[in-house]
Amino acid sequence: MNISFVKSKIGLVLAFIFLFTSCKKKEEEDIETHNPTPYSLEIPHGFPTNVNIPDDNPLTVEGIKLGRYLFYDDRMSGKADQGMGMSCSSCHQQAYAFDNPAGQGTGTTSLKTKNTVLPHINLVWNPGTYGWNGSVASIEEDVLLVIPDPTEFASTWPDVIAAISAEAMYPPMFEAAFGSKEITPERIAKAIAQFMRTMVSQDSKFDRVLRGDDNFTESERRGLVLFTTEEGADCFHCHGAPGNPLMTTHLFYNNAKDTIFDTSSDRYSVTNNPRDIGAYKATTLRNIELTGPYMHDGRFQTLDEVINFYSEGLLYSEYAHQLMHKVFPPYGNGAMLNPQEKADLKAFLLTLTDTVFINNPELSDPFQK
Ligand code: HEC
Ligand code: HEC
Repeated sequence: MNISFVKSKIGLVLAFIFLFTSCKKKEEEDIETHNPTPYSLEIPHGFPTNVNIPDDNPLTVEGIKLGRYLFYDDRMSGKADQGMGMSCSSCHQQAYAFDNPAGQGTGTTSLKTKNTVLPHINLVWNPGTYGWNGSVASIEEDVLLVIPDPTEFASTWPDVIAAISAEAMYPPMFEAAFGSKEITPERIAKAIAQFMRTMVSQDSKFDRVLRGDDNFTESERRGLVLFTTEEGADCFHCHGAPGNPLMTTHLFYNNAKDTIFDTSSDRYSVTNNPRDIGAYKATTLRNIELTGPYMHDGRFQTLDEVINFYSEGLLYSEYAHQLMHKVFPPYGNGAMLNPQEKADLKAFLLTLTDTVFINNPELSDPFQK
């Protein structure tokens, strides 16, 4: 081989390495000097102050904006060009507090999700146990999981990245949010998670009463007393109370619906602790009027059915949680509420509906504007 040819080749390689490293360096500098606008989340009256925002994904105005577009974008399926567009909002609809009236979700391949869709309500307070069984550690992780999930997007990340990259609006938005135009699964997950952490519901009648701006009716007040007393309907241990306005403990319980259990997606499937057999998350009761059908398997269509269940439909098994007091002696099948008490309990539950939240323009579909 001719020496000068080898030399020039080395020269080329060196030049290339130099170019490459200087490009890389420039990108790193851009990221270092990148200053997105911090977004400070307001903690509503009476809410806990310890929110779950990872150190490596602080809220920024630019990140939230990008996340909002991605949340509502059919390109997130990587299949929109094949007429199989799907976005997070296909299953998680704002009008239903980001839940879905169909119960289970239906993926791009027509397969149904194992359990019913969960709403997006105050998830920034979730300590890191997302999903009905708490198996998902963060919203970011959830985004990474749903793209390949055969019952959801049934897609691949390369297809999603290609579809998102092809839309001219996005590269500058990624640059504004993250310091360079690069589009990666991690950045998509971070942006969507930022947007979802702003989905705060804090303007129901219940909240206005807590703030002293409104009053319960007599029936609603009696319902609250039933909800928060052990002699009454005994709901507060698992679903919160005025002292825990998130209306969830974020914990998992077997709430005495069955005597035989499918252990494929319960809390036991995550912990392997037999005490968790048949246990699922006691979801928030905020906006409960909007988030039926109810329970992880959607077995109850209406709130009346749920109230009848807690009143007289409980089934004892050795896995029923200790806090299901009404399935143990001296009770047995439930709180045995009379018709007036049932109506009062329901009236209280309806005060948890937040119409400001489901109409909040900052959480709505940005493509509809
Ligand atoms: C095909 C319907 C479907 C689509 C599309 C979908 N989800 Fe979901 N989502 C579900 C179902 C069903 C659950 C409940 C899963 C379980 O725990 O069994 C859920 C649960 C979640 C949860 C957990 C909520 C909680 O309270 O623990 C998060 C977070 C979430 N989805 C985010 C997203 C995001 C972000 C997207 C878009 C990237 C998305 N989902 C797209 C159906 C869907
Ligand atoms: C021992 C804890 C516990 C007690 C006490 C309890 N619940 Fe629940 N609740 C749960 C769990 C766990 C779930 C979810 C179970 C599932 O999906 O299989 C649930 C689900 C619900 C749901 C459906 C939520 C949804 O998103 O589908 C409603 C409504 C509800 N409970 C209302 C009540 C009311 C009203 C009371 C009092 C009469 C009450 N609960 C008492 C643990 C409890």
